[in-house]
Amino acid sequence: MTRLYLSPPHMSGQELEYVHDAFESNWIAPLGPHVDAFEQEFAAAVAVEYAAALSSGSAALHLALMLLGVGPGDLVLVSDLTFAASAFAVRYVGAEPVFVDSDLSSWNIDPALLEEALDALARGSRVPGAAIVVDLYGQSAHWAPIRCTCEKYGVPIVEDAAEALGATYRERPVGGFGRYGVFSFNGNKIITTSGGGMLVSDDRKAIARARFLASQARDPAPHYQHSQIGYNYRMSNVLAAIGRAQLRVLPARVEARRRVFEWYRELLGDLPGLEFMPEAPYGRSTRWLTCVLIDPGQFGATREEVRLALEAENIEARPVWKPMHMQPVFDGCAIYGGSVAERLFERGLCLPSGSALTRDQVERVAEIIRRQCRAAV
Ligand SMILES: Cc1ncc(COP(=O)(O)O)c(C=O)c1O
Repeated sequence: MTRLYLSPPHMSGQELEYVHDAFESNWIAPLGPHVDAFEQEFAAAVAVEYAAALSSGSAALHLALMLLGVGPGDLVLVSDLTFAASAFAVRYVGAEPVFVDSDLSSWNIDPALLEEALDALARGSRVPGAAIVVDLYGQSAHWAPIRCTCEKYGVPIVEDAAEALGATYRERPVGGFGRYGVFSFNGNKIITTSGGGMLVSDDRKAIARARFLASQARDPAPHYQHSQIGYNYRMSNVLAAIGRAQLRVLPARVEARRRVFEWYRELLGDLPGLEFMPEAPYGRSTRWLTCVLIDPGQFGATREEVRLALEAENIEARPVWKPMHMQPVFDGCAIYGGSVAERLFERGLCLPSGSALTRDQVERVAEIIRRQCRAAV
């Protein structure tokens, strides 16, 4: 049986035409017409004014914190349930992450707990330099209360929308709810350039500065002169060409991921002790990954037993992110709450969710999961 991957790339076929054009023009460099066009088209797609195409989402997070002037001695609030890159960026600038637990109804940061954290920190005169709030697994965070709380304390938001391109909050695309928005085009994302990222903002000067820092901070001089430390973070024109073709099929990719989710729900929705990640009423998730929670008592098998049963049949499934407060590298960092993310990690499993999956393939996955369920046998 061919291996089913969690979230493999899904090319549309048009990418090669764009890449061919990049070759024809000889812009085989971390700048060029496809980079410029990708930035413009992407900014329009997420309804933000400006965008800087970068080598990764991690680079975008790093630059966002630098642009905000976050540095050693600062605190940064971070969603606890996320991929580690969200929190690594805090360390890149020498600051200290403070984690905030999830809300069960969306799996995203709990707005009430965020307020509690900010109130407590402000009482101790430790207002954070930024908040990195994640849109998890294709679902928007609850922006209205989050923004309200952060505004109250003047804490700028970095929206980590790496996993949620194409999702909406109250009919507005994610990515534009903070001072900066971050996207990733890693191979596992809903659209990909093999690797890459985008930093978006309505602040023209800030995005111009991001491009400057991302291009080795070259002063405007004919010789090579540098007055500050720069980074080699720009996206290649060849990869931007792939990104442009991928962006054109984004709406179809969102529909396909949602269809995969619906197939799983239809095939597994009756099983006791198996729940799907909820879709919050305030927005539309892309269902980037279909995630389920398995209650071993009711289901008759643990999440890990289900994962191993799938692996034995050459199917890749992954536990939900291990929360940041449980990561050895963040040992000793502050955490507000934590039990919700712990529970989601313990019971949560991400199923193969690629937009090219067929109904037959989803049935193959579902059948193995059904076989693990005591009540279904
Ligand atoms: C929530 C989140 N933030 C940041 C990143 C980092 O993006 P990249 O891999 O492009 O550096 C990822 C995924 O890779 C992610 O899932």
